[in-house]
Amino acid sequence: MDDPKTDFEKNGFLVVKKLLSSDEANDLRNKIDNIVNDETKKHMTFYAFAIPDGIRKYKNFWYLIWHPNIIKLLHNVVSKNIKFAIHNDIHRNLTPQYKYDGDYFKLSGWHRDTRFRSNFLKIKDKEAFNETQEKFKCIRLGIYLNNFDDFKSYLYLIPKSHLTSHSLGNKFEIFFWYRVFAFFISIITKNKFARFFPFIRKKPNNMFSGYSKPYRVELNEGDVVLFDTRVIHAVSPSQGTKHSIFIDYGIENEHTYDHINYYLKERKDLGYSDLQNKQLDDQLEEHDLLININNLKNFNKSPMTGRHSINPEEHIKGFYLKNI
Ligand SMILES: [Fe+2]
Repeated sequence: MDDPKTDFEKNGFLVVKKLLSSDEANDLRNKIDNIVNDETKKHMTFYAFAIPDGIRKYKNFWYLIWHPNIIKLLHNVVSKNIKFAIHNDIHRNLTPQYKYDGDYFKLSGWHRDTRFRSNFLKIKDKEAFNETQEKFKCIRLGIYLNNFDDFKSYLYLIPKSHLTSHSLGNKFEIFFWYRVFAFFISIITKNKFARFFPFIRKKPNNMFSGYSKPYRVELNEGDVVLFDTRVIHAVSPSQGTKHSIFIDYGIENEHTYDHINYYLKERKDLGYSDLQNKQLDDQLEEHDLLININNLKNFNKSPMTGRHSINPEEHIKGFYLKNI
């Protein structure tokens, strides 16, 4: 077992037990439940919601951004220069609903929390994220507020899926894992989700090392998971009530600006509020967590260089050019 920082850099994530106390978790559960008023609840058959930008919207959650235990963890594991990266969510019961028997090949919904959703970080020697100028240090912190027995949903993370060196590197390797192996597994398991399982090399630059098996996490109230936003993850269906909160952080560089711009400028559907909020910004500044707004506003390119479903450089041009 390595120290937490090495562990995080090697696998792309870190699970920390009981970072928040049970009292704090209980208080946050109540705060989340109280967001939706009683009248609205009566009309909801399954009381579930996701609130994008929830932390910034509700002042009584702001303190979490600079919670001393969280900041201490981020300073130790990521960087002392970490800033609040705006993207954040509040979730209640946001888990998929289907039958699941514990076999990770039968999980659906594997994804990355960046705008880049592909299983590959490298295709034909072209890397998805260009790190020659700046290192990718954009992370997401998941705060879990219920005991596992109350919701019985596992979080699965694929170790090393944030590293280009572990991404399948050529068409023969891709053909083998997806057309042969995954196809075979989908027949055996009689499950179509197996065909979309994300295969990541176990060892760097070694196509014969086998695949990186998902790491299964059982979360309890007050536990947190810190992960590189490029890490591929999924959750199993839940059988009870689950409250969770997600907050993104990053160091001041193009990767973080790109991440923030995606949510502010491209994902209009999520309804992110204005970039600046004087009252929150003053407090972020006080805690040395405020991103440089001018640098962010002036950022109009993307360090994403690889193949995407839509070419981002072209796709985002319209969003940025009119904002310059
Ligand atoms: Fe996610």
